[in-house]
Formats: sequence, C-alpha cells, structure tokens
Amino acid sequence: MDRYANSRRLLERAAGSLTGGVSSPFRAKAPVPLYFRDGEGPRLEDVDGNRYIDYALAWGPLILGHKHPQLVEAVRDLALKPHIYGAQHELEYEVSERIQELVPCAERVAFTCSGSEAVAAVFRLARAFTGRPRILRFEGHYHGWHDQELISYRPDPQRFGAPDAPCPTLDSRGQAANSLENVVVAPWNDVAALERLFARHGSEIAAAITEPVLCNSGCLMPESGYLETLRRITRENGALLIFDEVITGFRMTPGGAQRHFSVTPDLATFGKALAGGIVLSAFAGRRDVMEEMLKGAAFGGTFNGNPIAMGAAVATLDVLKDGRALRHANEMGIQLIEFIRALAAEFGIPLRITGFGAAFSLHFTKRSNLRNYRDTLEDDRDFLNRFLLAALDEGLYLLPDGRWYVSTVHSEREVEETIAAVRRVFTRVARPLRPSV
Ligand SMILES: Cc1ncc(COP(=O)(O)O)c(C=O)c1O
Repeated sequence: MDRYANSRRLLERAAGSLTGGVSSPFRAKAPVPLYFRDGEGPRLEDVDGNRYIDYALAWGPLILGHKHPQLVEAVRDLALKPHIYGAQHELEYEVSERIQELVPCAERVAFTCSGSEAVAAVFRLARAFTGRPRILRFEGHYHGWHDQELISYRPDPQRFGAPDAPCPTLDSRGQAANSLENVVVAPWNDVAALERLFARHGSEIAAAITEPVLCNSGCLMPESGYLETLRRITRENGALLIFDEVITGFRMTPGGAQRHFSVTPDLATFGKALAGGIVLSAFAGRRDVMEEMLKGAAFGGTFNGNPIAMGAAVATLDVLKDGRALRHANEMGIQLIEFIRALAAEFGIPLRITGFGAAFSLHFTKRSNLRNYRDTLEDDRDFLNRFLLAALDEGLYLLPDGRWYVSTVHSEREVEETIAAVRRVFTRVARPLRPSV
C-alpha cells in the first residue's frame, strides 16, 4: 500500500499548472512532496491521514507551532479590518518598538516580506554608507536566492579552490556572472584567512555578512571568540558587520544570536519566526546606516508593514519576549539531542549533532570536528537519506538536510514519542552493535 497515494495524485494535478507542482523547488523532496491538510501545535497531518511530529516547522517560521491561539486571534481580528493601507498605521511601530527592545543592534527597524529581500536591502545600505563595492561572505552560508546573494552556498568541489582561499562560485544557472565581481568569499571559523582577506581587500569591503550560527550548512556553531574577532576586524577595517539572523532571530533567544553571543553587529536581517508563520521579514541596525535610505539609498515595497503581518508579529513577540517560551523550546531540543546521541552510540552509528536546542543538525560522520561547510562534505548523505525516509514512515517530519527545528509547543510528550520513533528508525537502517537495555 502506498502511504502517500493522495499526495502523489494531488502533485500530478498541481504539476499541470504549477511549475513542478511545488511553490519552491527546495520543497521537492523524497519520496514525494507531501500535501498537508491540517496542523495543530507541534503536529501535522497529510492528505493521506498520516500524522507527524513536525520538526520542519515550515523551514523555521512556526516558532509557536501551528495555530497558536494568540496568533490565530490576532490574525482573525485583523482579517475584519482593512488589509493594507499602503500608508502608516500604529501596528508598525508596535512591532519596531518590540524589536528595538529585544535586539541589541536595532536602533532602527524596517520591514520587508522575505529574508532574501531584507538581505538585498542591507547590502545596499552597507554600500551606500561605506562607499565601497564588495561584500565579504562565507562559504556554505545561505542569504537568499537573488543573484548577489546566492554565491558559494553549495560550491562545486571541482571549482571551489583552496580551503583557506575559496574561489567565489555561482550557485544557479541563469545567474549574472558579474555577481561575483563584488564578492570576497572566506572560509568560516578561520581567523587567519579572514585577516589575510581583509589585508588584501580591506579598503573595498563594505560589509561582512555571516549566519551567526551556520544553520544552512548543518547548524555549525562559531568557535569561541570567532564572532568577536569578526567584529573587531570589520571595525578596524571600516567595514560593517551584518548578522543574517533569518533563522537564529527569535529562535535562539528573543534577541537572536547577537544577544546569545553578546556580539552586536551593525546590521541584522530577520524573517521566518518573526511573525510566527505569517509573511514578514525585517532588517535593523545602526541609526546612521539605516538612515541612508532617507538620503538616496532606494528602498521600498508595496506590502511592507502590512497590518496582518504586523499583528502576527506583535502576537508572536509578546509570547516570546520574556524568554521563557524559547528557553523551553531550547530545553526540549537539548533533550532530543542527548537522547538521539545516546541511541546512535547504542546502535554503533557514527553521528555528530551540532547546533543549539531549537535548531540542530544530524551529521552521520566519523569526523570529530565540524567547523565549516567543507567539513560537512564527508557526511554520509546516503545514510541520511535512508534515515529520513524511515523517519517519515515513523511519523517524524524533518527537513531534507538533517536539520531539526523545535518550537515552543513541543513538549516532553513529543520528545518521548520521538525517541521511540528514532529507535525504530535506527533499527530499520542499522543493526545494533549491542542489544538495547
Ligand atoms: C539565513 C537565511 N538568510 C536568508 C534567507 C532567505 O529568506 P527567504 O527564504 O525568506 O527569502 C534564508 C532562508 O532560508 C536563510 O536561512
């Protein structure tokens, strides 16, 4: 019997009008892109009636899980009011003031609709402010799909150059080749390489952008002192520091990774969790840099600051602001990490888990140290794929790269069920070395 028959049928119909049958090719995953009919808290149900504990959380936004009552109420109320003014309304500053309170760098805030858009805006502001052309970025980091953003994210090992001096590479067909001209690419967690690149290109670098935790290449943590060094070197060279907190924002702590690591960038981008699943992104930072948009650095957007997204952000931030809900999410994640590690050891499966509680990744590898993108290339992807297929059958909905997101409404009950499911998964994909106790 095909557990996913209805999804296959709907995909076939969708593919007749929707390119590839999906709204984002990133979602075309094995064994078939699933169609869903409902979700509640940390759980999801597909159109075949299969139920899952949701650790994909729509690739991050569902920090409060599905249909959180406060979010539902806010959106329902706003659905009865005008949906957009294309002009000012009070919810806008209700959100920006909350962000200002929570996020250390946020002297000023602006709204956009996607993470990619927020990143495009901060690149422009950085160039306008410094008068310099280049952005320094790190291999394996994802900052969006636009031409100037999608560089050296998944570089081809045949062309990516020496480990300490990566060669910038385009990640997409159809990308303008000259997108590479204004970029410098560095290996992450490598201070010596950073110093060399700044010594060579420092006067041209407008900003360095980093995911403060490298969530898009396996939730790798910055080494102790690395973000501080990045802060110092950018400052010494007159370049700005941008934290791309599209994932870590309103997930790691209510003030993002910058609050967790006590390193304040000049600019930061946010998205995903900010409005709990309603379309919204933002960027924030130093007032003098943000005010470049009042002095000719163009910025706009028809849907910016739309009331439903603003109301959803107020509701989400009000749940998150005292830190308790995120502490819970992170604690649940840590429990999962510890249990999964112990299970893998019991089954003799080489596994490293990296990240923090509310966002972590499984790496099936014998490597003891994972510092940057290239270190993850030794991960056993075939084993991961077998793990993911078995996990789906056992009721765990995960992202295709082995990343897990945990929400504020995952509870001990989900943790227990998950551990039992992971045990069944490991039993299916690997033989235990010694019997379980
Ligand atoms: C760190 C980071 N930056 C930027 C983006 C782009 O955001 P969006 O998909 O909303 O355009 C993403 C998306 O996953 C991301 O993870």
